[in-house]
Amino acid sequence: MMNVSIIGTGYVGLTTGAALAFLGHRVTCIDIDPKKVEQLKRGECPIYEPELENILKGCRDRLTFTTDYEPAISGSQVVFIAVGTPSQADGQPDLSYLKSAAQAVGRNLGPKFTVVVNKSTVPIGSGNWVESIVRDAMREAKKEASFSVVSNPEFLREGSALSDMLYPDRIVVGSEDPSATTVMQDLYLPLLKQSFDSPKNLPRPKGFVQSPFVATDLQSAELIKYAANAFLALKISFINEVAELAERVGANAGHIARGIGLDARIGERFLQAGIGWGGSCFAKDTSALISTAREYGLPMSITQAARDVNSRQRARVIEILLSELRILKGKKIGILGLAFKPFTDDLRDAPAFEISSRLKERGAKVVGYDPIANSRVRQEWADRGPIVADSVAEVFAESDAVVLVTEWPELVNSDWKALLPSMKNKLVVDGRSALDRPTLTGLGAKLIIMGYGA
Ligand code: UDX
Repeated sequence: MMNVSIIGTGYVGLTTGAALAFLGHRVTCIDIDPKKVEQLKRGECPIYEPELENILKGCRDRLTFTTDYEPAISGSQVVFIAVGTPSQADGQPDLSYLKSAAQAVGRNLGPKFTVVVNKSTVPIGSGNWVESIVRDAMREAKKEASFSVVSNPEFLREGSALSDMLYPDRIVVGSEDPSATTVMQDLYLPLLKQSFDSPKNLPRPKGFVQSPFVATDLQSAELIKYAANAFLALKISFINEVAELAERVGANAGHIARGIGLDARIGERFLQAGIGWGGSCFAKDTSALISTAREYGLPMSITQAARDVNSRQRARVIEILLSELRILKGKKIGILGLAFKPFTDDLRDAPAFEISSRLKERGAKVVGYDPIANSRVRQEWADRGPIVADSVAEVFAESDAVVLVTEWPELVNSDWKALLPSMKNKLVVDGRSALDRPTLTGLGAKLIIMGYGA
């Protein structure tokens, strides 16, 4: 068992901390926000992520939350940096949190060898940069310590973060120091060998017996993260582009996804046509990849095309509503689902925001509802977003159209029979190909499924 510190208690830091504590390590989670730390100490989880609160509670004796770097860092064999790296206007990530975390690590390193793990998504080459910051801070603090920086990119999806962490398709560790790679291999051994008993509500996927360990150099690990996200984003954009053509020629995007996805070289996942991708990673990472490549004179045209297709998907919602309703001014449009995907309250790059803004610009009254993100929307979007309704019924009442933006099961399985009659005009746009056409049309709705047509 190892002593581990994790700096940053966002989605990645907290999930990593919870999972490592669950595997038996002693974990200290450090955050500069005292409110967050107090909340975590009380056993409350500041973010919504299925099962996270339960795991945190269950591992209370191996988990500490603090705002102090000392003594956590000096007593740890492994220190994770999992702070945010939000996009700046030029597409490059803001590294100021990363810099101050690295400085804090350098000032507080203990006498024993420490592995400093970069878990934040950072531009290629940042591993070396972090190393120099840790070293400078260490010297300024007049410390003598040995450490190595490794890159260990995160591939977890929000909404299934703990499952992705406990049953990873692979663990990537980039390092120039074999002894640091060995420490990481030891840390993750229970995951690599899948030797732990699964938590109650997070069963091991059938047939999942081990996880490959991919040891690389620092730069490759950093680029793997960007390339993985860009590839997933372009897979979605690819099916969306094909789906638009399918609509025109009378083909079915679902059949096409299955027909191409069963080719093992392509794979079935991430071929779900609809409104397109949102969230904290795809937009940020594709933009950072393009911006890094630009510095080397490379255009990254495929990644750029994936972004262009994705913004077109959002614009298409407005086009569909315009062509159906003719005039949007004064019309009430309901938005079902506001977070960027179900089972999260994360609003970063949520398509619902852009769609609402564009509709509002055209004079529509936009009313939205999300099963868990409502209060966040009120805070973060304020009057820039839709009017937030307290119930699904409020969204439907007297509306001229409703758009399913996020496929929450409770929204998909709404009581359509009761709700549709309360609409002024029974137009439903399904942006996630989640609704049952025979049911809705049987109830008199006009249903347009993006990628599948009317
Ligand atoms: C993503 C990556 O999957 C993860 O590996 C990385 O670490 C972070 O970014 P996340 O943003 O949590 O994870 O969500 P993900 O499940 O990948 O979905 C991203 C967006 O794509 C969502 O808006 C989702 O609705 C959309 N999507 C996904 C599609 O439109 N079609 C699909 O087939 C799959």
